Amino acid sequence: MLLRWMFHVAWVSLASKNRTIGNAAKGQIITNFKNTVHGFKKFHGRAFDDPYVQGEKPKLPYSLHKLASGNTGIKVRYLDEDKVFTIEQVTAMLLTKLKETSESALKKPVVDCVISVPSFFTDAERRSVMDATQIAGLNCLRLINDTTAVALAYGIYKQDLPTPEEKPRNVVFVDLGHSSFQVSISAFNKGKLKVLATAFDPYLGGRNFDEALVDNFCEEFKARYKLNVRENPRAILRLSQECEKLKKLMSANCSDLPINIECFMNDIDVTGKMNRVQFEELCAPFLMRVEAPLKAVMEQSKLSRDEIYAVEVVGGATRIPSIKERISKFFGKDVSTTLNADEAVARGCALQCAIMSPAFKVREFSITDVVPFPITLRWKSPTEDGVGECEVYSKNHAAPFSKVITFHKKEPFDLEAFYSLPQELPYPDIRIGRFSVQNVVPQPDGESSKVKVKVRINVHGIFSVSSASLIEKQKGEGEDVQMDMEPTVQNEGRPEDQTKMQVDQESQGQGDQQNEDVSSCSKERVPGEKQDPAAGGSKPKVKVKSTDLPILANIIRQLDRGVLNDFVEYESQMIVQDKLEKERNDAKNAVEEYVYDLRDKLCGIYEKYTTEEDSNRLTMMLEDTENWLYEEGEDQDKQVYVDKLEDLKSFGQPIQDKHREQEDRPRAFEEMGKKIQLYMKAVELYKQKDERYQHLNTEEMSNVEKCVNESMGWMNSKMNAQSQLTIAQDPVVKVADIISKIQELDEVCNPVVNRPKPKAEDVSEENYKSNGAHNGPRQGADGKGEAKGSNQTKPPSGEMEID
Ligand SMILES: *[C@@H]1O[C@H](CO)[C@@H](O)[C@H](O)[C@H]1NC(C)=O
Ligand SMILES: *[C@@H]1O[C@H](CO)[C@@H](O)[C@H](O)[C@H]1NC(C)=O
Ligand SMILES: *[C@@H]1O[C@H](CO)[C@@H](O)[C@H](O)[C@H]1NC(C)=O
Ligand SMILES: *[C@@H]1O[C@H](CO)[C@@H](O)[C@H](O)[C@H]1NC(C)=O
Ligand SMILES: *[C@@H]1O[C@H](CO)[C@@H](O)[C@H](O)[C@H]1NC(C)=O
Repeated sequence: MLLRWMFHVAWVSLASKNRTIGNAAKGQIITNFKNTVHGFKKFHGRAFDDPYVQGEKPKLPYSLHKLASGNTGIKVRYLDEDKVFTIEQVTAMLLTKLKETSESALKKPVVDCVISVPSFFTDAERRSVMDATQIAGLNCLRLINDTTAVALAYGIYKQDLPTPEEKPRNVVFVDLGHSSFQVSISAFNKGKLKVLATAFDPYLGGRNFDEALVDNFCEEFKARYKLNVRENPRAILRLSQECEKLKKLMSANCSDLPINIECFMNDIDVTGKMNRVQFEELCAPFLMRVEAPLKAVMEQSKLSRDEIYAVEVVGGATRIPSIKERISKFFGKDVSTTLNADEAVARGCALQCAIMSPAFKVREFSITDVVPFPITLRWKSPTEDGVGECEVYSKNHAAPFSKVITFHKKEPFDLEAFYSLPQELPYPDIRIGRFSVQNVVPQPDGESSKVKVKVRINVHGIFSVSSASLIEKQKGEGEDVQMDMEPTVQNEGRPEDQTKMQVDQESQGQGDQQNEDVSSCSKERVPGEKQDPAAGGSKPKVKVKSTDLPILANIIRQLDRGVLNDFVEYESQMIVQDKLEKERNDAKNAVEEYVYDLRDKLCGIYEKYTTEEDSNRLTMMLEDTENWLYEEGEDQDKQVYVDKLEDLKSFGQPIQDKHREQEDRPRAFEEMGKKIQLYMKAVELYKQKDERYQHLNTEEMSNVEKCVNESMGWMNSKMNAQSQLTIAQDPVVKVADIISKIQELDEVCNPVVNRPKPKAEDVSEENYKSNGAHNGPRQGADGKGEAKGSNQTKPPSGEMEID
C-alpha cells in the first residue's frame, strides 16, 4: 500500500457513533465542522507552542489542544465525549481507512506500505509519521520523500536512460502541492537515480492562493453586504470551497469569472467576480516566492542550466499558468508535464513498495537520496571549552548512510544530536535527541577505553545512534592499535537496508570510513578522508574484545512507547466500533429500503398478487414503520432492525414469491415442453428405423418413451390446474418443481438417446459426433445437419461459426 498525502483524502470526521474517513469525511465539513479534521499533516512531531502550529490554529475550524507531552493534540467530540487525539492517532485513522480500502480491492490483508513525506520533514516529524503507521497496524517499508517518489515514477520505466558509464541525465522535479513547494534535481542512469540536491519553501502551496481569494472576498462581502464572514466558520468553509473552484477555473480561463453563493449568511445570496490578471495581482507575494527554491537547488547541484535535460512539474498548484511560466522562464525551457500532477507521487510510492515487497517482480532501481539538513553530534569533553563536536552528516550527504565514530572514554557519556543550521531548518527546534552510551568503563590499566559508536540515517531519513561497543585490548596487544577491522561493514546490513533496493554501493562503501577519534572530528577533518577503509580488514594482528553497550535514547517529541501501545489498542477498538455501527446502519437502511420498495410495488407490479384488503393492511404497516424509523426507531440496536425487517418480510415475501413464480413459470414450462418434444422425436425416429438411432437398445428406448409420456402427463395436469387459479392464489406448482422434473427427464433420457454409435460404422461417424456434441439430439431431430456425411461447409446455425 502506498500513501501520498493527498489533501483531498486526508480528512477524518468524528461523530457520536462512528468515524468517517477520507473523501466521505470531507462531506461532513459543513455539518460537523468542529469534529472534521483536515490539514494536520504538518502538525506531526510539532509542539503545541510551535510557531507554525500557533499560526495555523486560528484558521482551523476544529480545536487544537496542548498535550501533557507538549505535543499538538486535536480536541473533538467522539462517542458523545470530549476526546483529545494525538496527530499520530488521527493519521492512523486515515491509514486504517486506506488499509481497509486496499484490502477490499485486493481481497487480501495489507500490512506493508510506503509513505511519502515532504523532503524537508525533520526527524521528529518523520518519527511521528512512523508511529502513526504502527498505530494503524502497518509496517512502513520506507518513508520516501515526495520529490524522490516523483523521480522514481519518472525514471523506472524510461528505456533511454544513459548507461552507468555515460554522463547521467539530470532532471529537475518541481512539486507545488496544497501546502508546500519542493524542488529536487536527480541524476539518472540506467537502473538508478541519485538525488543531487533539494530545496523547498515549506509554507508555499495551493492553499495560499485559496486563502488570498478567501481574504479578498471576505473584505468585499463585508463592504458590499455588511457581512462579517470571519465570524462564521461555516460560511468561511463554504467560501473556501467556492474559491478553490474559482482558482481552478481561472487557470483555464482568462475572462471575468463569477462566484455565487446562495443563502451565504443571514439568508443573503452573495456574488462576486474575478479574472486571472486580478488573481495574479492578488497573489503576487506568493508568486514571487517560486523562484528562490529553484535558484537554491541549482546552486547546490552546481549544474549549469544547459546540463538540465528536463523540468518536470507535478502538484495541483503547478496548473496555475503564471507559476508554470515562472518556472519555465527560470530554466529557459518549457516545463514538461509527462507525469500526472496528482498521481506521480503515489505512483512512485507504489513502485517503491512493489520494489521492496517480495510479492512483486519489478525492475530494480537504486535510489540514493540526500540529507537536507546537516547533523552534528556534541558531547562533553576534557578540552578547554568542555565540549566536543562533530558534524556527522553534511548537507546533501548521501542517505541512507551509516558511520562509525570512535571515542576515548572512561565513563558513560551522552551524545546530543542536533541540526547544525537552524536558519535553514523549517522547524523551531534544532534538537534531535540525546543518546546516552552506558556501561563505559576504563581499561584495566586505568586508561580510556575505545568506544565505537555507530550513527545512521536509515531508509526513512531518520537519524539514530544505532549501536555502541566497548573495545578492550587483550593481553599482549601492541600500543597504537588501529581498530578499523571491526565488522562495521557487515553491520550496515540492517534488515531495512537489505531490501532489493539497496543503498547505492558506492556511497555505502565510503560511508563506512571512520572518524578515528574525537580530536580528528572537532578539527573538522572531512569524515572518511583519513583512513583507507579497505585497509581495515587486513591487519588483525591484535586481539580485541568488543562488548555491546546499551544506549538510552531520549528523543525530541517522541511518543512514549507505552502510550503508543495503548493507541494501537484504542485504534482497534475504534475499528470494531465503526464496524458495529456500520452493521447497525446497514440493518436500519435495509428496513427503510424494504419499506419504500414494497410500497412502490404494492401499487405496481404486486397489485394483482394480493387482495385489496391485504394490500391496504400491509400499506398501513409500511407507513407505521416509516414513521417509526423517524421517531422511536431512529436509534435502535441492530437486532431491532433485523427483527423489524423479518416481520415485514413475513407479509411481503409471499407476495413477492407469487409474483416471481408467475413471472418465471411460463419459461420453465416452455423449457420442459421443448425437452419432451426433443425426446419424443428421438423415440419416433427410432421407431421409424432411422439409422442414427438403430444402435440403441429397445428396452431402454421404451423406458425413455414411458418417462416422456409421464412427464407430459404431469406437465399437462399442472398447467391445467394452474389455469384454474387466480393470480393472487398460491400456485399449484413451483418453478423449482418444474426444474427438478426437467432434470429427472434428462437423467433418464439423455444418456440413452445420445449414446454414440459403435465405432467404424461409416464416414459419418465424426460428423455425427461433433454435431451431437454441439447441439444435442435436437440437431438430428430437426432433420437438419444431415447425419449422412453431413457437410460442414454450410453450417446449419450461426452458433457453429464460433469455432
Ligand atoms: C456513521 O454513522 C452515521 C449515522 O450513524 C452514518 O450516516 C454514516 O454513514 C456512518 N459513517 C460511516 C463511514 O459508516
Ligand atoms: C470563460 O468563461 C466565460 C464566462 O463564464 C465563458 O463565457 C467562456 O466561454 C469561457 N471560455 C473558455 C475558453 O472556457
Ligand atoms: C529523503 O529521504 C531519505 C530517506 O529515504 C532521507 O535519508 C533523506 O534525508 C531525504 N532527503 C531529503 C532531500 O530530504
Ligand atoms: C405413450 O403415449 C402414447 C400416446 O399418448 C401411447 O401410444 C404409448 O403407448 C405410450 N407409451 C408408453 C410406454 O406408455
Ligand atoms: C461438401 O460440399 C462441397 C460443395 O458444397 C463439396 O465440394 C464437398 O465434397 C462436400 N463434402 C462432403 C464431405 O460431402
